Amino acid sequence: MDDTVFLGIESSCDDTAAAIVTGDRRILSSVVSGQTDLHADFGGVVPEIAARAHAERLDLCVEQALDQAGLRLSDLNGVAVTAGPGLIGGVMSGVMCAKGIAAGAGLPLIGVNHLAGHALTPRLTDGIDYPYLMLLVSGGHCQFLRVDGPQDFTRLGGTIDDAPGEAFDKIAKLLALPQPGGPSVEAEAALGREGRFDLPRPLLDRPGCDMSFSGLKTAALRLRDQLIAEQGGLRQSDRQDLCHAFQTAVAEVLAEKSRRALALSPAPVLAVAGGVAANQTIRAALEHVAAAAGAAFLAPPLRLCTDNGAMIAWAGIERFRAGQQDGMDLIARPRWPL
Ligand code: KG4
Ligand code: ZN
Repeated sequence: MDDTVFLGIESSCDDTAAAIVTGDRRILSSVVSGQTDLHADFGGVVPEIAARAHAERLDLCVEQALDQAGLRLSDLNGVAVTAGPGLIGGVMSGVMCAKGIAAGAGLPLIGVNHLAGHALTPRLTDGIDYPYLMLLVSGGHCQFLRVDGPQDFTRLGGTIDDAPGEAFDKIAKLLALPQPGGPSVEAEAALGREGRFDLPRPLLDRPGCDMSFSGLKTAALRLRDQLIAEQGGLRQSDRQDLCHAFQTAVAEVLAEKSRRALALSPAPVLAVAGGVAANQTIRAALEHVAAAAGAAFLAPPLRLCTDNGAMIAWAGIERFRAGQQDGMDLIARPRWPL
């Protein structure tokens, strides 16, 4: 039994989060304060607005996380914080908050790579062993990682332009559907007809695990404009059929590239993380690919797939166990490849 207790702090994008996690994989609390409403009018996350909101909310989130866990700062064994990559104003707010707590309470400080936080989540949720293959698909990221240890990641490929979540959000925007686009496009797609539109499968004809989603978005835009020009507007069924075609194309690309990643680097488990992993069609396609390769498929619960403090606390515990910690010179990094 490992009774190490860590506070994890996350503020690299548009969620302010704090959580308390134990070394034996118990999540004692996980508080996430989203900012979707603050950015709704702007069609994307506005870095300055995000940074201000993080600075205002971090204290409260940490306090709530401690309260819900029934703990005080003196009960902790360490503080882990996302030190990048991400929107720099938000990352700085989190790092400064963590430094203050670590210095004030005399606790070890551990800087965590946000991507490592996502990538190590299946070890927190399911206790799986290394190695495994991780497909990280969110609004900001899309990559295949072979995970061999808490600091041992090999990138097998990833998007060369947009992340799939970003593409879902843009498709929603051009069809005047509510944001975030993923869930609204998925709901429309469920009512769409198979085979009415055929969108491209970018990079599928090229070897390797790299992906591209911006061409798909441009093709959808052209199709929309063509329909508007021909009909004078979009019908409900046009939206549904377009969403269906788009989602089918994304699922097919992710599935085929996952098949290749598993062939290139066989692993007992294919795990996913990131908001796009919520999509049922995409999940089903990946599950199918994993089964065909003889691998188990693992999708952590959605609240732990999207940005949260628990994954940061856990990644901090893994680094701490490996004997690593940071000093007060820990810096916030906008870019930080694994
Ligand atoms: O992981 P996440 O919460 O934030 C980061 O990007 O780090 O992912 C958010 C993204 C958004 O782009 C959202 O549209 C997408 O995940 N998303 C989905 C679904 N639910 C959320 N995409 C496809 N289908 C969904 N059901
Ligand atoms: Zn993330």
